[in-house]
Amino acid sequence: MSESTVAPLPHVAIQVFSETSQVVAVVEEASHDRRMAKANLRVQAGGVAAAVEAYRDAPTPNVIVIETVSDGHGLLGHLDELAGYCDEGTRVVVIGHVNDVQLYRELMRRGVSEYLVAPIDVIGFIQALSEIFSNPTAKPVGRSIAVIGAKGGVGASTIAHNLAHTIAGDLEVETVIVDLDLPFGTAGLDFNQDPPQGIMEAAFDPARVDVNMIERLLSRCGPQLNLMAAPSSLERIYDFSIETFEPVTDALRATVPAIVFDVPHMWTGWTRNILIRSDEIVVVAAPDLANLRNAKNLIDTLTLARPNDPRPRLVLSQVGLPKRPEIASPEFAKALDCEPLASFAFDANLFGTANNNGQMISEIQPKSKAQEAFLEMAKALMGRQEAKQSKKSLISTLREKLSGKTGKSKAA
Ligand SMILES: Nc1ncnc2c1ncn2[C@@H]1O[C@H](COP(=O)(O)OP(=O)(O)O)[C@@H](O)[C@H]1O
Ligand SMILES: [Mg+2]
Repeated sequence: MSESTVAPLPHVAIQVFSETSQVVAVVEEASHDRRMAKANLRVQAGGVAAAVEAYRDAPTPNVIVIETVSDGHGLLGHLDELAGYCDEGTRVVVIGHVNDVQLYRELMRRGVSEYLVAPIDVIGFIQALSEIFSNPTAKPVGRSIAVIGAKGGVGASTIAHNLAHTIAGDLEVETVIVDLDLPFGTAGLDFNQDPPQGIMEAAFDPARVDVNMIERLLSRCGPQLNLMAAPSSLERIYDFSIETFEPVTDALRATVPAIVFDVPHMWTGWTRNILIRSDEIVVVAAPDLANLRNAKNLIDTLTLARPNDPRPRLVLSQVGLPKRPEIASPEFAKALDCEPLASFAFDANLFGTANNNGQMISEIQPKSKAQEAFLEMAKALMGRQEAKQSKKSLISTLREKLSGKTGKSKAA
């Protein structure tokens, strides 16, 4: 195999559980390879049992690599257990010490992405990881979430920014927040950043957008958080064609696991296109009549436009403003025929302080109801489930499908 054909890894987290020092040494060396520059590669001692222990109640990374020195039969039982703890989208690679076709088949049947026979070499290891993501039939790495307000000023951007910050901080998933409110966006202010680059170049030169350009347009604003800021300037006008943001969206999905779009309160070809093409849509509404009408129109129209995708999620915002007549949450939900994913109380002090300081809610009041709601939203929108036991992983789903055990499949 030629080294130059190995594609660089996207911004993914990879955890290796090793049983031999040879594998530790290879992982260590691989972590310094240029193709791994964006990936977060970690290694710890202990094989599959350590992995089961580690993920019983912790989120799983994008890839789990498990070394086993045993003949593999003990491994299968443990892998089944691990599958029960794996989050949606987590891939498993096994490094074994036996070249056993039977075992290989068993592992593939379980949805394991790759089986490598030790001793492994650095490039072979990187290539195996790289191919998980560069394979043209592979699902894109990134999950995209578009947030839009049913009216202006309802808190959609605030929610989008805090959601992205929570996905990065609490779920430990590399995340990018894309500010699509080009003339007036506040993501830079909210994260206390003034990056020189941002979405502007991608918006005005979409033909040139690729993964390398994306890297240049992102700025770091937290341990796993990146910002693609809006110019927030009125020097230009922003009339875009419907497909303008498709290249940037596709390039982001190829390289970052979580993408949150802060979509301005507008209904144009390009905003509609971004909403329709996202994995998840969040409609933020305050509890009044105009919001109700607009939220209903948005949810109905977008549901119709994407019949095979999740319905847009409703989030209530600025609930309980003193002296304001409001539509009660249950009535609001009933009129839209959808349970709110989260509800945020009106709290001028908390949100105002966050605005003024350029801070996130978790930095001001980490134990607040609002922050709890951001965490719930983050888990639901990223396909994380509360009760780990009830999780149905890629592995178990694949296993059921491939082995045709429909008679035995659990009602999940
Ligand atoms: N739950 C809330 N309680 C009080 N103020 C809020 C709340 N959510 C947002 N805000 C404030 O409302 C204003 C508008 O928020 P923003 O997120 O920019 O709205 P949008 O993006 O929908 O136009 C900001 O000043 C923000 O701090
Ligand atoms: Mg906004």
